[in-house]
Amino acid sequence: MRAFRTVAVVGAGTMGSAIAQHFLLKGLSVRLVDAAAEGLARGQRLIEASLDEAVARRLLDPSACAATLARLHPTLDLAELADAELVVEAVFEDLALKRELLGRLEGIVAPDCVLATNTSSFRVSDVAAGLAHPQRLVGTHYFYHAAKNKLIELIPGERSDPELLRELEGFYAELGKTPIRVADAPGFAVNRFFVPWLNEAVRLYEEGLGSMSGIDAVARATFGVGMGPFALMNATGVPIARHAAAGLAARLGPFYAPATSLCQQVEHGGDWNLGDDRVPAGGSEQPDVIRRRLLGAALGCAAALVSEGVCDATATDLGARAGLRWPRGPFELGAALGTKVVAGMVGELFARWGLPLPAVPFAQTGAVKLEWVQTEVHGGTGLIIFNLPDRMNALGETVLEQLEAAWTQLADDPAVQRVFFCGRGKAFVAGADIRFFLDAIDAGDLERIQAFTERGQRLLARIEASAKPTCAFLDGLALGGGLELALACRYRLGTRNSSLALPETGIGIYPGLGGTQRSSRLLGPGVAKFLIATGRRVDAAHALQLGLIDAVVDPRRHLRELAALPLPAPQSGRCPQPELEQAFANYRGDLDAATLATPALAPFARELARKAPLALTTAMRLVDDGRALDLPAALALELAGLKTIFASRDARTGLASVLDGSRPQYLGH
Ligand code: COA
Repeated sequence: MRAFRTVAVVGAGTMGSAIAQHFLLKGLSVRLVDAAAEGLARGQRLIEASLDEAVARRLLDPSACAATLARLHPTLDLAELADAELVVEAVFEDLALKRELLGRLEGIVAPDCVLATNTSSFRVSDVAAGLAHPQRLVGTHYFYHAAKNKLIELIPGERSDPELLRELEGFYAELGKTPIRVADAPGFAVNRFFVPWLNEAVRLYEEGLGSMSGIDAVARATFGVGMGPFALMNATGVPIARHAAAGLAARLGPFYAPATSLCQQVEHGGDWNLGDDRVPAGGSEQPDVIRRRLLGAALGCAAALVSEGVCDATATDLGARAGLRWPRGPFELGAALGTKVVAGMVGELFARWGLPLPAVPFAQTGAVKLEWVQTEVHGGTGLIIFNLPDRMNALGETVLEQLEAAWTQLADDPAVQRVFFCGRGKAFVAGADIRFFLDAIDAGDLERIQAFTERGQRLLARIEASAKPTCAFLDGLALGGGLELALACRYRLGTRNSSLALPETGIGIYPGLGGTQRSSRLLGPGVAKFLIATGRRVDAAHALQLGLIDAVVDPRRHLRELAALPLPAPQSGRCPQPELEQAFANYRGDLDAATLATPALAPFARELARKAPLALTTAMRLVDDGRALDLPAALALELAGLKTIFASRDARTGLASVLDGSRPQYLGH
């Protein structure tokens, strides 16, 4: 597997410099090339300004900023790329220019150097046409701002090496990007529905169906986004929207063509006047029509691209969430509205343009499955992969249902001898889905939380009882429910990215998926209470000493490599923890000053003082009472107190604090 340590970016414009900045921030040395000294200097300034902003926002400390910049090697000379392993070209969108540049690069770089063309408007196969080695060229489509936006579309040309695609997928995921694989089709995945969404907004405006501010407001409410289409066009550049629409229209037909007013606005220059709440052509605000047409455009085009096999529905939704920051992608949104209702909206709009209703999901019921939990089998090893990287793979009702199905499938498959659980992105699983908890609390439906947790407990019990060895590969955040799932596995592996915690008592609740019981059985009551009471994040080395994981291994670029991994001896690095045992074994969750001042607890006093009192005492009692019982009875005890804790005011406060980033003030009830 190639490391791609020596990377280069050609073209120091807005896009190229941001691509270089991303590589730099991930610790790579980057050669940045431009044909003109001025362009190169501007690109450097853009990177510096963006890094300065990161320092000002305390996302980067000044010394890290200096080290990042020191890895940048600007040059005007392409010959300096002779030893590059990966070159991303991000020159101006001009096919002849791109081809000529890549041809020249082929004469300079080694035969195994990978070339990537960053484009939003050309076919990758067309860019590759004149190359001596087209198999090494792949299309990338970065999204603005390339150093910050996690989405990257990876596009194979007709002759790209499929293995290379897999390598780049692994490479970009390792760099913290969210790569999705998309076919070499107009607009790839995200622009194919996003640009028509912008364009439809302009058409609604010029047809007199709403003002700009009115259309933006409906769009924000319907899609749950922070900015409507007009505000977004202003932020990213009105001409870009027109250019992208024209590119789509050239290959897909008149529905995609830029609206007349969009072209006029570009000719006049300047931004849309967002303050203008006038409806043109003597019309009036028609919020319902606006809503139907915007949904019809976005969901219809998304359906069309999936029907054509450009991308699958799961990745298309991920593209919308990660790339556009839509809270829900078009297919999740469509499923919530009901496929029939959406078919009506799409049909109405598409019929005006002579476009057929896309087959998926409208003609084939059940054709779309959003794979939030995936399974893979490699040899005798089965993988269960949590696939909501942008939502930290949090466990909600749908994820739980899919996890159950995935487990059943692999448990019943005689070819599968062992099962690994893994996450995508930064998290293994960052706990139960807090939004789901809050929605249920606000709806007064604690039964739903109870049912969810009972179902989760039943599944974890099945996993624990399995004769097939199970292993949680904790390459990232394993918080709350994520760690509880891991505790039900026979083995747990950590990596340098591991961060494990049971943070529940800090957010007003207690671990309900067996966390108060399996932890004390595995680690002893003192260590278990330490984890539950402090909520402290432990890394792999610490977790190994506590006995929480069995071994520390290297992260894997590709999860299928886990098939070759031997399972370790259980708790092979565990060390006795007399201080923790002494401090916590008899701790009952008291938060009075005298208790917190005792020498054993004083080192943890600040963390403990931030906990929700009721959740903390309940959790400590569950650990104590559960130890006298067998595991099923202990788990039932944990379930029995659930509704009481979720009914507490502190639970509402604590859970909400996670989503709004506030610091909770607990009242003890
Ligand atoms: N439930 C629901 N959503 C969650 C979540 C959870 N358990 N954990 C993370 N998310 C969401 C965040 O709200 C955020 O959503 P947004 O993009 O719509 O704002 C998204 O995942 C990314 O999280 P963010 O906070 O931007 O990333 P980060 O790297 O700064 O922090 C975490 C990640 C996981 C450390 C932080 O989100 C967190 O502490 N989450 C709660 C963990 C927890 O208490 N779990 C126990 C639940 S029982």
